[in-house]
This record gives sequence, C-alpha cells and structure tokens, in this order.
Amino acid sequence: MEQTLQQVLRCLLPGETVSGEMIARELRVTRAAVFKQIEQLRALGFGVESVPRQGYRLAELPDSLLAPVVQQGLDTAWAGCEVAYYACIGSTNREARLLAANGARHGTLVLADAQTAGRGRRGRGWISPAGEGIFMSLILRPDVHPSQVARLSLLTALAVANAIAEATGLDARIKWPNDIVIGGRKVCGLLLEMDADESAVHSIVAGVGINVHQRIFDEEIAHTASSLDLLGGTAYRRAEIVRAFLRQFECAMEMRDEDMMKDYCARSATLGQRVQVISLSGTYTGIAEGITDSGSLLVRADEDGALREVLAADVSVRGIMGYV
Ligand code: BTN
Repeated sequence: MEQTLQQVLRCLLPGETVSGEMIARELRVTRAAVFKQIEQLRALGFGVESVPRQGYRLAELPDSLLAPVVQQGLDTAWAGCEVAYYACIGSTNREARLLAANGARHGTLVLADAQTAGRGRRGRGWISPAGEGIFMSLILRPDVHPSQVARLSLLTALAVANAIAEATGLDARIKWPNDIVIGGRKVCGLLLEMDADESAVHSIVAGVGINVHQRIFDEEIAHTASSLDLLGGTAYRRAEIVRAFLRQFECAMEMRDEDMMKDYCARSATLGQRVQVISLSGTYTGIAEGITDSGSLLVRADEDGALREVLAADVSVRGIMGYV
C-alpha cells in the first residue's frame, strides 16, 4: 500500500500533468488503484489537482518525509541511496539495526514521521510526536576498527550541525560530545549504535532526532530544549534538512581527520567554556580546552590545574552558566 503510494508520488513529483492511465500502465495497477492512492496523497496534504481530460498535477507539497520527497533532487553518491520511510515505528535505530543485520546497503536511511519507543542516550527515551521532528537512522558499513568509531560520532555531530546551519541559517553548535544546540537550547540528539566484534565493525547506525516544529516540551526538558521553528521564527521543511544532512555526512566522511577535527572544534559550543564534569567517581569543574582524536574532552581542572581526559561514555558535562 505505502509502496504504491510512493510510486504514484514519484510519477507526480516532476510537476507535469500525468494521466491516470499512464500512471496505471507504468505501475501495472488499475486506474481505480491509482485514484485510491491520489485520494490518499490528498489526505496527507499533497495538493494533487485534477486537470480535466488530462490527468493529475501536483501543485503543492506538504512538509512530508516520504522517500520520494526526501530523494527529490538529492545529489549524494551513497548517503540516502535507499530510504525506508515509516509513518510510525517503534524506533528507527532499532529498525535500522534489523535492516543492517539483514544486509541493508551502506547509506540506507531509515526515516519515520513518528516513533512510539524512540531511544535516547543513557537509557532515556526520545519523545517523537507525529509530524513534529526528524527521526532518522543512517546505516553505515565503514571499513574501520571498533576503536575508530568515536571519530564517526564526532563526524555525525558535525554533519548534523552543518546541515541545520545550511538549511536554516541558524547558528547550530555542538555541545560535546554530540548534542546540537542553538542559543544554548538543545535541538537535536544523536545515538550511535554499532554491531561489531573485537576486530571488525559490521555496521553502525547513526540515529538522529531533530526538534523541528515542536512548541511544547515535557517539564523536565522545557528549560533546556527548543525546536528549529521556535528559534528561527518560521516553519522549516524537514525534507530539506534531511537532504542537507545526507550531503554534509558524505562531505564529512571524505575529510582528512585533521580537517574534520578543525571544523568540529569551530562548531563546538563547549570549548573554552567552564564546565562541570559529573562522573561516578565525583564532580569537578574546569575549562574545556580541547578534544582528542579519539573524541575525549580535555578539561583543565580548577582544583589542581591538571589537564584531565574525559571520556564521553563516563560523564555528563554541564556548562556552569546553564545547559551548554
Ligand atoms: C539523545 O539522548 O540525545 C539522543 C537521542 C537520539 C534520538 C534519535 S531519534 C531517531 C533515532 N531513533 C531512536 O530511537 N533514537 C534516535
């Protein structure tokens, strides 16, 4: 059903008037089936006009994440080569891991309009209401050792921050290790999960959740979270941001390590800030001075002036003056 819907949409996307008969012939379905899908597209907000004696014409595109919309004009070599779209799913990360285990190609993107069991870092959830955000997971099969995966996490954060900046003009920054913040508010979280053994990475799923249209947040995140629409004062198009992410991801993958780190540092909201490091063994404050190649944060501790290496998995880092 969803498949035919997306195929009919592909026929209409170029914007020309196409007859129902032509679509039916191309897709090897009946004209009644085409009509049913046209009605379905209209119900989803697609402005499909009936042109008397000629056929159908797509006059207006809603803010949709259906695969043909996301892939329209996408000029990447491999990122988003396949897009698996779900109107509603438990978690795109979970689905992407299943698809990866079943052989999905490097660059396959899993996208959902809503998630019912969105996963966040540290066992938390990710609230994913229908039509409000971007919930996506990119399947990667990089030829790297498990120890090099931290680079991919930094690279994903850089790609998302660059994509948001490119598509919205907003000053997206990276709160170490990989939250994306604008004006001190979190607008995006990343969750990378890998399937690997000691010597090889079989696949990595880079999960990205971006708050786009949300206006209301749960009480516990209301003072730290925001959305692109709220911050930019306009309604952004989700597909445009997804395309920018896929392009930026490919660019970042091709960068030399030093260049990628330089760009990451230039987009950092954490470097140069006084931070509080909260770990199991205690809490201390200091200045965030650098990031190592393996993705650790270097913090000059206030108490003894020593430079301490902070691993992403170990701690929570909070700015002294607020969330960033
Ligand atoms: C965080 O806690 O900051 C990370 C949140 C990551 C959420 C995204 S939404 C798409 C993908 N699927 C999931 O279940 N989680 C990630």
